[in-house]
Amino acid sequence: MNLELQGRRALVTGSSAGLGAEIVEQLAAEGAAVVVHGRDEARAEAVAKAVRGAGGSATVAIGDIGTDAGADAVAAAALAGGPVDILVNNAGVYDPAADWGGTSPSEWADIYNVNVIAGVRMIQRFVPAMRERRWGRVIQISSVTGHLPQASQPHYAASNAARDNLAASLARELARTGVTSNAVAAGGILVPATQKMLTGLGREKGWGDTWDEIEPHVVDNLAPNDSGRIGRPGDYARLVAFVAGAGAGYINGTTLRVDGGWRDA
Ligand SMILES: NC(=O)c1ccc[n+]([C@@H]2O[C@H](COP(=O)([O-])OP(=O)(O)OC[C@H]3O[C@@H](n4cnc5c(N)ncnc54)[C@H](OP(=O)(O)O)[C@@H]3O)[C@@H](O)[C@H]2O)c1
Repeated sequence: MNLELQGRRALVTGSSAGLGAEIVEQLAAEGAAVVVHGRDEARAEAVAKAVRGAGGSATVAIGDIGTDAGADAVAAAALAGGPVDILVNNAGVYDPAADWGGTSPSEWADIYNVNVIAGVRMIQRFVPAMRERRWGRVIQISSVTGHLPQASQPHYAASNAARDNLAASLARELARTGVTSNAVAAGGILVPATQKMLTGLGREKGWGDTWDEIEPHVVDNLAPNDSGRIGRPGDYARLVAFVAGAGAGYINGTTLRVDGGWRDA
């Protein structure tokens, strides 16, 4: 299937690592020029270099989008290369070890700032021009915990509910403009950060020593799903690329899920 992304430019926030890095690789493989973003220039450059090495087009934009000044810097760097047609709000933070007892009000505010308000900062800087050009894709990366929260990391789950909610509200705002707004919610996806955290947790719990030994226990105890495994970045990024593509213009105002058939623990 041709997603018709040639000639489009995409900014994926938080693409210096993990899911975001996979998303830029998928978008670039489909022909989009990508802007790789993060706070650390060396990490972002390494991802951009890999994209270019695979024949794609990539530049970088550096900045902490938890602040207005950082968001301005990212917008200036991204727009220096031309207009942005596709905005993927992926930058985010989480902590599977956090619980109700251990999360202070300021930690609730901090996670909301990065997972939700940083995305709003980007929307405010990029979407008005998409509206004028009568074409655009705005995608919030979120998590199934927004619909099916567990007791753990309640502040993170609530931030995902907000990500899904704002995607729908923005679609109402952008009605009939040619710009769509959606969220794509993930179940557990194996990226270096989650593998490190979950391997540590698995060893503490006596589930095994290697990831292969620990993964089935993670599925049973933390990420119950009908597919019986943790997702891989490609499982998820392929849907994000599809939603960014030309053929997805009638997918709007919704939350799509890539979670292996996630169910309550
Ligand atoms: N992995 C999963 O299982 C999973 C499941 C559901 C949803 N998600 C969502 O997917 C997104 C990516 O998660 P991940 O697992 O790929 O995490 P990750 O590997 O830790 O990557 C997070 C990315 O976000 C960037 N970032 C974080 N805070 C930032 C800030 N204030 N300003 C700019 N960049 C910032 C990091 O950039 P630096 O280089 O600056 O650190 C990094 O590129 C998150 O929004 C998360 O909620 C992940």
